[in-house]
Amino acid sequence: MVKICCIGAGYVGGPTMAVIALKCPEIQVAVVDIASARINAWNSDHLPIYEPGLDDVVKQCRGKNLHFSTDVEKHVAEADIVFVSVNTPTKTQGLGAGKAADLTYWESAARMIGDVSKSDKIVVEKSTVPVKTAEAIEKILTHNRKGINFTILSNPEFLAEGTAIKDLYNPDRVLIGGRETPEGAKAIQTLRDVYAHWVPIDKILCTNLWSAELSKLAANAFLAQRISSVNAMSALCEATGADVSQVSHAIGTDSRIGPKFLNASVGFGGSCFQKDILNLVYICECNGLPEVATYWKQVIKVNDYQKTRFVNRVVSSMFNTVSGKKIAILGFAFKKDTGDTRETPAIDVCKKFDWDHPAHLQPSSPTSIKTVSVVWDAYEATKDAHGICIMTEWDEFKKLDYQKVYDNMQKPAFVFDGRNIVEVEKLRKIGFIVYSIGKPLDSWLKDMPAVA
Ligand code: NAI
Repeated sequence: MVKICCIGAGYVGGPTMAVIALKCPEIQVAVVDIASARINAWNSDHLPIYEPGLDDVVKQCRGKNLHFSTDVEKHVAEADIVFVSVNTPTKTQGLGAGKAADLTYWESAARMIGDVSKSDKIVVEKSTVPVKTAEAIEKILTHNRKGINFTILSNPEFLAEGTAIKDLYNPDRVLIGGRETPEGAKAIQTLRDVYAHWVPIDKILCTNLWSAELSKLAANAFLAQRISSVNAMSALCEATGADVSQVSHAIGTDSRIGPKFLNASVGFGGSCFQKDILNLVYICECNGLPEVATYWKQVIKVNDYQKTRFVNRVVSSMFNTVSGKKIAILGFAFKKDTGDTRETPAIDVCKKFDWDHPAHLQPSSPTSIKTVSVVWDAYEATKDAHGICIMTEWDEFKKLDYQKVYDNMQKPAFVFDGRNIVEVEKLRKIGFIVYSIGKPLDSWLKDMPAVA
């Protein structure tokens, strides 16, 4: 019987292991973490992360073949397969600061695996790591070799927060990279057998280690690039009277382009896109490819531009100042159906208001910015507000009684839709001045100073 241990009980480790436990009842799965509060939450009725369907999966397996524990060393020592799903943030200081991935957590996990292991193990890179990381991990693991064989696999995770369980049940593909040696092939087969419990075999792609490591960075770079491309178009739409939704639909029907991921917005967020592109840029620079690095860096620059453009549009519409005004921020997470606010565009937008033009901000979901007040109810958030900024595409904000919202706001009442979810004409009829990204401008907005 195979025993699995996953180091890191976060947004990836938790849901991924819960689904493996559900689909492979004969496999014992332990998810371990040094953060005891997180492990306690996984063992409680209030899981540490919100994901539709996750509660159900955990309830079915927890205490049977799925265990959450802080006893990291014990579970690692007992496992045949060790997944490492620790965080890999951008380095904040030292060589490569601001771009390179910080592999401190990974390295300490690898050293611990090397120290406590008494039997052969397959070590799986689940975290997103720079290409060639497996080589460094191999060196760490084999340095203290006590006759134990470690085989490294790269098995990057492609789930998206908000749809994690759905994505894990029906992945577009599972990618497994390994060394092209007999041991590598055997390890790939072992991991393939785990996924084959529920994933069709033709969707399990096997590659060499470096292709698997690079594919994850490449996938995130391509996804983010699509968002920056459509956002760049949205600026041109506003300048010309074209409608970005119509343009997206028109180009998305081309089967070579496809319809997904073409929604203009205030910008992408989340813990991965920016960090992974910066990491890619750094790897290109280190490999003497400055032109390639500059190409990908532009994806982040356009994302920053889009957030600045949004704030400038708000301020210029409201008579060039938001000082002393109340702005309701609807939504704070970086997308709907997740509680994750890491790198959410709402943070940058609020900070820009806060620093450049002190305003009273009232988000209707939690935030870490000190000068804002937080309420749970959208009607309360918008009461007496001068303007509304929609930052997350929660379904709830599509269904609000906007007449009621309008009646309780200061006039003129503004809606700045950073996710293009409201019915613009309906809101304009109520009396709102509406800005929707990449849509033909309200005459009010046209008369205001141009925005950079
Ligand atoms: P997270 O921050 O939610 O979870 C990481 C966990 O690892 C934390 O709970 C931390 O306490 C734990 N940890 C760190 N060092 C440890 C150690 N030495 N021993 C035991 N536990 C340790 O991070 P998240 O979002 O789950 O991401 C993990 C990795 O997966 C990252 O590399 C990320 O880029 C990648 N990824 C994330 C996706 C996402 O949607 N969040 C999607 C696909 C990949």
